[in-house]
Amino acid sequence: MVKINVSGCDSFVKEEQYKQYVDKALAAWDVLDGEQGAGNDFLGWKHLPSETPESLIADCEAIRDSWKEKGVDLVVVIGIGGSYLGARCAIEALSHNFAKQLRKKDNPEVVFAGCNLSEEYTAELMDLLAERNVGCVVISKSGTTTEPAIAFRLVKEYIDKTYKDASERIVAVTDAKKGALKTLSNQEGYKTFVVPDNVGGRFSVLTPVGLIPIVLAGFDVRAMLAGAVEMEKSLAVRDAANPAVVYAAMRNLLYSELGKKIEIMVTYNPKFQYLGEWWKQLYGESEGKDGKGIFPASVNNTADLHSMGQFIQEGERVMFETVINIENSNRTVVIGTDEQNLDQLNFLAGKNVEHCGAMAQLGTKLAHIDGGVPQMEVSVERINEYNLGSLFYFFEFACGVSAYTLGVNPFNQPGVEAYKKNMFALLGKPGYEELGAALKQRLA
Ligand code: PA5
Repeated sequence: MVKINVSGCDSFVKEEQYKQYVDKALAAWDVLDGEQGAGNDFLGWKHLPSETPESLIADCEAIRDSWKEKGVDLVVVIGIGGSYLGARCAIEALSHNFAKQLRKKDNPEVVFAGCNLSEEYTAELMDLLAERNVGCVVISKSGTTTEPAIAFRLVKEYIDKTYKDASERIVAVTDAKKGALKTLSNQEGYKTFVVPDNVGGRFSVLTPVGLIPIVLAGFDVRAMLAGAVEMEKSLAVRDAANPAVVYAAMRNLLYSELGKKIEIMVTYNPKFQYLGEWWKQLYGESEGKDGKGIFPASVNNTADLHSMGQFIQEGERVMFETVINIENSNRTVVIGTDEQNLDQLNFLAGKNVEHCGAMAQLGTKLAHIDGGVPQMEVSVERINEYNLGSLFYFFEFACGVSAYTLGVNPFNQPGVEAYKKNMFALLGKPGYEELGAALKQRLA
């Protein structure tokens, strides 16, 4: 269950002002709840947690079990943007930090591809395939995105020439009816899963887009969906204390009234680095349009206190922080006594590492507030599937409320097309000749 605490903004914000923004956020909540706002044909994510059929999870588990029988030990998940960030976030958050080095073999290793156009990455992926027993999940709602399409062409070619049961080692997650990937899947007889029409990529982690890779990595998506269901219920209550309303109100106030143009998601656990990446896409792509929007950034502390800490403490005062607070660690490591005490750390003997982390987090909070950086805290009890599901749903719902408070359509992304057109033109794709010639002239 997600809790929010905005007391770290108290010294920056007048109560009256906050009440005004709560009213604006409640009006935005009404728009989202009434499904009458811009982009309202993309609200399928709202009831996904409570409406996911058991048969979908069973289908994901059937793939996991049949690949286990084949001895698959490497799953390549191909996708970009909303088609990979949620799964990557969940798998990194839930995995042992050193699973690879410990050679944990209970579940296949999941690696990601199609999320860049790096030749070295691709070549090195092919090196890895040659060493392992491979399955592939290719995810593209449109079925036509260039980065995953190139990666899939190469991985498919490898699987086709290596395995007699090639078509059983590829699963596609795509549109129900249209797109190149759907056509190919029909031709080749791949098992396919559907990305619902009314769910955009960045809101799709609780559809098969996220569920299949997470199941294949060995995690419990039932618990994840249960956590999301609990949030779905609690955020459906129209209330000034609704955490999504509180978050949307405060971040819009800080942006519009205090000129805080940058929001930094702060995490204190290396496993949550990709929570920041997932959240950046969700908020950046949903709000950054019409010349408006809070720029979403992220840091992973305490590592980044030694790189970005100086700027956050004393650089231009344009940011606020949203800290992901994990109340309890899943593990305990106690610091021992050292006779010589050369490092002078005996005052910490008997304390656990998490205690030191908590004090670093508290000390940073107070220092940043003193330095002019307002701070909100979003807390969960510990890292597990249930709480991750709650966090996913919380940030999705709050994103809808916040974007409507800001006055933008949260569910489109017209700006993403600009680079694609130029790339196609420069690559010489048929139909883009005129633009290609114009761009080459500009670059000459
Ligand atoms: O959120 C979005 O819509 C995007 O990030 C898409 O997920 C991303 O561009 C990948 O698109 P597709 O799944 O169609 O390949």
